[in-house]
Amino acid sequence: MELLALLGKMSLAEKCYQLQQVNSNIFMADENMPITGPEFYLQFDKRYKYEVASVYNSYGAERNIAIQNEFLEKSKNKIPLAFMLDVIHGYRTIYPINLGLASSFDRKLVRECTAMAAKEASVDGIHLTFAPMLDVSRDARWGRCMESCGEDTYLTCEMARESVLGFQGDGGKYTIGASLKHIAGYSAPMSGKDYDSSDISESSLREVYLPPYRSAVDAGVMVAMPAQNVINGVPGNGNSFILKDILRNEWGFDGVCISDYGSIENLVSHGFCENKKEATYEAMNANIDMEMVSTCYINNIEKLLNDGKITMEQVDTAVMRILRLKEKLGLFENPYGSADVEESKRILACPEHREIARRSAEESAVLLKNEGVLPFSPKIKKVAVIGPHADNKKIVGSWWCAYKQDETVTVLEGVKSLLPNAEILCEKGCTLDIEDKDYSQNDKAVALSKAADVVILCVGEDQADSGESNSKAKLTLPSVQKELIKRVSEVNKNTALVLFTGRPLVLTDVEDKVGAILNMYFPGTEGGNAVARLLFGKCSPCGKLTMSFPRNEGQCPIYYNHHRTANLRTDDNKRILYESGYIDSPNSPLYPFGYGLSYSNFEYSDFKLSDNTLTSKDSIVASVKVKNTGNLKAKEIVQLYIRDLVGSLVRPIKELKGFEKIELLPNEEKTVEFVIDENMLKFVKRDLTYGAEEGVFQVFIGKDSRCQPFDQFKFTNKSC
Ligand code: BGC
Repeated sequence: MELLALLGKMSLAEKCYQLQQVNSNIFMADENMPITGPEFYLQFDKRYKYEVASVYNSYGAERNIAIQNEFLEKSKNKIPLAFMLDVIHGYRTIYPINLGLASSFDRKLVRECTAMAAKEASVDGIHLTFAPMLDVSRDARWGRCMESCGEDTYLTCEMARESVLGFQGDGGKYTIGASLKHIAGYSAPMSGKDYDSSDISESSLREVYLPPYRSAVDAGVMVAMPAQNVINGVPGNGNSFILKDILRNEWGFDGVCISDYGSIENLVSHGFCENKKEATYEAMNANIDMEMVSTCYINNIEKLLNDGKITMEQVDTAVMRILRLKEKLGLFENPYGSADVEESKRILACPEHREIARRSAEESAVLLKNEGVLPFSPKIKKVAVIGPHADNKKIVGSWWCAYKQDETVTVLEGVKSLLPNAEILCEKGCTLDIEDKDYSQNDKAVALSKAADVVILCVGEDQADSGESNSKAKLTLPSVQKELIKRVSEVNKNTALVLFTGRPLVLTDVEDKVGAILNMYFPGTEGGNAVARLLFGKCSPCGKLTMSFPRNEGQCPIYYNHHRTANLRTDDNKRILYESGYIDSPNSPLYPFGYGLSYSNFEYSDFKLSDNTLTSKDSIVASVKVKNTGNLKAKEIVQLYIRDLVGSLVRPIKELKGFEKIELLPNEEKTVEFVIDENMLKFVKRDLTYGAEEGVFQVFIGKDSRCQPFDQFKFTNKSC
């Protein structure tokens, strides 16, 4: 049936329920039983149970097919349910958390991972994911930075596009819809505290935070989810400036906007609205179409219509957007999508998917330090795998959907299967509990370390300690873990510290204790195999940090592309009065954005700029020769940065504008080229318009964000 004709048949109540998303557990229950639990509390009218729009958090092909069957059988309008879920970094096969995956700087890999997640989720009956999360994250205290691509806007834009294209594919079998979230400013809450308010100038909002969502819109993302906190005084879920003026009117987004969990009701808790009726008005006015879990819309739309506060056209527009989404997802033709019980058995966690998970964990790993310790020789006889993450299956990070814990490979398991003939000792030592004070647990671990040829010391955060609502004021490792590191490194110099974390940690007081540090983030299902292969040289680490690691919490938020300022201290070792710096800390981070070592070595030479002038009509090329001067085949991520020397608004000290990942054999050399044109120079100017200003721009190419300029060019708007 034509969607408009369908809309015409719907009563007002049915329209309102078509704007509602509920928890799936209200289905497959006895329909004669009264509604209890959250739905009762939320004043859910049972008569319209079979007219709701969508369910979230429902797993399994069998269950989802059964729910859809029951629903369609009993529904009057027979508009299929859309099944939505947070498929954030994998469905059953879990790949690294996004902060890690982005560290691969690998566009193709991101698309491959998201397509794999879509395939697994779709055969289990999921139609749409609440991902990708595209909140540019500059503050390690904020636990949700683990879901993000880190501190850089350009990198996040690139990953946004690849994720949307990966999830949504060609829209056919094995694909799911994607949602950009959380637009905008959610990642910059005061003091890094989740859900707290953000204050962001309009120019920063437009230049730093908004572009990744725009990139997702340009890639055809189907759904948008607002930030659940308050930005510049207005909560994200009632923010008509961001959701209507920018997202819809400026960018032309015509998909569905879904509230975050209970966030329309929260407009009241924020003190932005007096009651749920007013909250409904604000959310409708901000163009939010679907309400997740709270039930302001179904209980207040009619009242607002009667008061003449909203129009029927507004309601119809929201309903039509949802119907169009369902049409796009193909649900009217096939309400089950790719759900298939038999196929799901074959596809979920299949060997090909596990291979992608392993490869992505390897590509995401960042070698932070290596003083000749790694790689370990695979001929080594006695290995000690030590620490609270040594034999821990909980290394997948927050958001794991249908993952099965027993399918995760621990470090111990990975090392055992790689080195079947070695003697492998294992002792956990302390726990991951941040309150753990029992140092005596470390004794046995230290003794084992002493007896081994090499030590793999697996420390870090509990996977439950980063993610939503897990903000931290302290970013150091707990003191029991620090004690373990100190003692183990004293008894065995061949110690490699393997870090599992959802955020940059403060490693200042442990980094000098060990000869090697490998950051795995939370690597997912195949984490243990990836660690073993990396440590024993089956492949070289090649990831680069997507967020700076601070030296101490007082530096947060810390990011490489900060604005230029007068009197900025540039020499960390000299303390000069009236310079912008700390009296008790250097300005620089411990490990900067873009940083990461390799087992091999890369030499950069022949830096060239094809011309020293650029006009709006042409482009110039920056190039560099990169040579693998080490003994191993390895990958390198070559980074291009540009600095606008003078602007109508003060410009960042440099900005990432391009990157290329190359693989080189020992002694092999490649020339990497970056095309620079006017688009790369555009920014949000003082009058808030977007464009490039004439002037001089410095060009940098290097291994990380500390690289220095090698040349500059003059940009002029006129064509020569
Ligand atoms: C989170 C969202 C998530 C939603 C549904 C909220 O608490 O902020 O990111 O998509 O829950 O699970």
